[in-house]
Amino acid sequence: ALRCSVAPKAQKSSQRSQYCLNPQASYKLAVLGAAGGIGQPLALLIKMSPLVSALHLYDIANVKGVAADLSHCNTPSQVLDFTGAAELPNSLKGVDVVVIPAGVPRKPGMTRDDLFNINASIVKTLVEAVADNCPDAFIHIISNPVNSTVPIAAEVLKKKGVYDPKKLFGVTTLDVVRANTFVAEKKNLKLIDVDVPVVGGHAGMTILPLLSKTKPSVSFTDEEVQELTVRIQNAGTEVVEAKAGAGSATLSMAYAAARFVESSLRALDGDADVYECSFVQSDLTELPFFASRVKLGRKGVEAIISSDLQGLTEYEQKALEALKPELKASIEKGIAFAQKQP
Ligand code: NAI
Repeated sequence: ALRCSVAPKAQKSSQRSQYCLNPQASYKLAVLGAAGGIGQPLALLIKMSPLVSALHLYDIANVKGVAADLSHCNTPSQVLDFTGAAELPNSLKGVDVVVIPAGVPRKPGMTRDDLFNINASIVKTLVEAVADNCPDAFIHIISNPVNSTVPIAAEVLKKKGVYDPKKLFGVTTLDVVRANTFVAEKKNLKLIDVDVPVVGGHAGMTILPLLSKTKPSVSFTDEEVQELTVRIQNAGTEVVEAKAGAGSATLSMAYAAARFVESSLRALDGDADVYECSFVQSDLTELPFFASRVKLGRKGVEAIISSDLQGLTEYEQKALEALKPELKASIEKGIAFAQKQP
């Protein structure tokens, strides 16, 4: 018997996939920062996946209760809790995918870069442990500023001699999820059909939705393009302001991260038709890292989809050139931080 996946799935292209889920739950996942605002609902969504056999929840505090609670759900995965640095290595042994939402979120008035000083060190420490304990795992970085934390992770992995650029991902799925939702609302489209590639990075104007590449094909006025682009770029801030000091996006982020996890697991499981946007090492532009659609396979990024950057509108082309200096600076800030660490 075949099972259907319960966790949110990536939008499919028009062709139907030949892939059927393997009925055996067999993948091990670790969530680092699992007791947080994103970590908890993300752990719940991952617990619902029929592909997961073990779910390791790591945090510096409060993770025992989260694990006890989740472990009562009658889905296949075994839930284990790990608290504090001493238990970090064991949380990572034998793990196929590591998801990292550890760190502080924004408060009103803050940019993602304002989180750099705290989150850079957290990501560095956690990725060192990943390098030592599960160097072959897919690594999903959620902690902001993603534009800098992914380059930090790459440098840490290089220092440890285990960097595989195909397996390091900055999670930008929420930008795609938001773009799909806002475009469907604006143009009265069926949500499930809408897919907007979002490229660049994951902060403010570095987030570039390619509305001209929306599927199904749809036309926008110049005003609509401007309004939608700005709304997608500022959607995180919309949530930060609405939460008024209580944090940033957690539920929609957990939904988006679960979709990216599910896509990674399907790719690991042999589905040959898995595409997601992600911030990865890339040769699409002159920048060393860039978010775009990528094809996922058993070994990670199988191909970077370059066609999305061809035939851009004038608006998109200008926005692409305009975002490069900021993205470049954020990448360099991450690399410089990692290189000056012992
Ligand atoms: P939160 O403060 O609710 O949770 C963070 C968790 O990380 C806490 O449980 C905390 O104990 C834990 N933590 C702190 N230091 C740690 C360490 N050294 N090791 C392990 N765990 C540690 O924050 P929230 O809302 O869950 O956000 C987490 C991160 O995700 C933030 O950096 C935020 O900016 C980012 N984020 C990224 C998005 C994206 O699209 N990539 C979207 C929304 C948030």
